[in-house]
Amino acid sequence: MSLRLRVILLITLVLASSLTLCALLVGYQVRQELAAELRAAMAGARQTASGTFEDLPRSDHSLRDLRQLVHAFDGNRHVRMAVVDRQGQALLTSRPSGEAPPPAWFGRLVEVEAAAVVLPIPDAPGQGLAPGLRLVLTPTPQSDARSAWNEAFTMLKVIAGVALIGGVLIWLAVGAGLRPLVLLGEQFAKVGQGDYAAAVPEAGPPELRLLQRGFNAMTGQLAATMRRNRQLGDQIVRLQEEERAEIARDLHDEIGPRLFAVGLDAALLAQLCEAGKPAEAIRHAQEIQQAVVHMQGQVRDLLGWLRPARLTEFGLAAAIKDLVAFWAGRRGDIAFALDLPETALDESTAEVAYRVVQEALSNAMRHARPARIAITLTHEAPDRLTVRIENDGVPQAAPDASRSGGLGLLGMRERVEAHGGQLAYGREAAAAVWLVRAQLPCQIHAVPAANGQEQA
Ligand SMILES: Nc1ncnc2c1ncn2[C@@H]1O[C@H](COP(=O)(O)OP(=O)(O)OP(=O)(O)O)[C@@H](O)[C@H]1O
Ligand SMILES: [Mg+2]
Repeated sequence: MSLRLRVILLITLVLASSLTLCALLVGYQVRQELAAELRAAMAGARQTASGTFEDLPRSDHSLRDLRQLVHAFDGNRHVRMAVVDRQGQALLTSRPSGEAPPPAWFGRLVEVEAAAVVLPIPDAPGQGLAPGLRLVLTPTPQSDARSAWNEAFTMLKVIAGVALIGGVLIWLAVGAGLRPLVLLGEQFAKVGQGDYAAAVPEAGPPELRLLQRGFNAMTGQLAATMRRNRQLGDQIVRLQEEERAEIARDLHDEIGPRLFAVGLDAALLAQLCEAGKPAEAIRHAQEIQQAVVHMQGQVRDLLGWLRPARLTEFGLAAAIKDLVAFWAGRRGDIAFALDLPETALDESTAEVAYRVVQEALSNAMRHARPARIAITLTHEAPDRLTVRIENDGVPQAAPDASRSGGLGLLGMRERVEAHGGQLAYGREAAAAVWLVRAQLPCQIHAVPAANGQEQA
């Protein structure tokens, strides 16, 4: 059952109960009034009859007086008057008002207990009146019940009309009042289908406004998160392409020529062996060996960059050293200062710290033209790891990450905060360096054995 129908039914129930109570009270009141009216009418009839009876013995026309008395009550709504003889035979009867009785159930509702009154008519010998006549006064409450019914029926029609119009108005008002909730429900359904542009106008009572404001804020947040996720997804794809291009360049520039040289040296080696020139053959063999060693180094650097397997195998410090080796191999002009204690950290903290260092190093290379980069891992408390990466060569104007369109710092922050840590970055004016500092909750599986401080 819809909320609207429930509200209407509830209102109808309350109204019907109140009306029933009112009807019972009014019925009781009407009954009391009818009883009082009937009592007064009977008393009046008795009095009138007594007046006539007093004059009856002296009257010359006692039969006519009696007839006049009875017919004076023709059309009376409360009392019917009758003259009966000794055998109970009615000789004269007044005509009642002639109104149709009310519906039986209503008659029972307002029925008043009233007994007939029998008055002996004084004998008037010689006046044509038979002896032993009696005057019977019978109360007729039906007429009053009928008029009460007429009034109640008219009132009932008015109430029904008002209830009908009121019901339609309440239906419309409840519909209008619930419309914002219906709209909210529809928008929630849209959000459930992934449409985060859904919004509702803020209108109505304060409680509803609060709900609508909360809904709009929620969809706004969801839309922003989805936008950011898309951007991060795009960035991942872009970074992958950049990395592939870099790997292709490295293979082409570093491995390609050396393989070519190794091929030449191998061919020459064969010729020199055939020509019996061992001294020159040995020199070419050594050159082949050097080239292979160089290529092994290149391949190791590349593997370390592609997948920091050493992170899980040898720990965070070793993985960061591989990273540094990768960059040092390309940027010989940069001095790296490392302070990396050999701590056996839990895997997820090590992963987050590694990614922070990776992005901070990339940023330093891309944005700062540094001469020195320092990377420090410290434990201010056993369960907290602080990662600091600072580089000099910062541009004069402090760049605004939010306007650069870059997502590296944003992704870094999300990673750190998802882990329960805090990230700070920016230009340290006093030290003229750019600093990235991540504080991460961690678990240490082994106490640092030695300080891995070194200078590259
Ligand atoms: N080490 C740094 N030295 C100087 N400026 C930096 C450094 N790191 C970041 N910045 C500034 O902060 C901005 C935002 O960096 P962020 O890593 O978020 O984006 P990006 O590097 O430009 O792009 P990407 O999304 O590829 O990382 C950079 O554009 C740069 O101006
Ligand atoms: Mg970046």
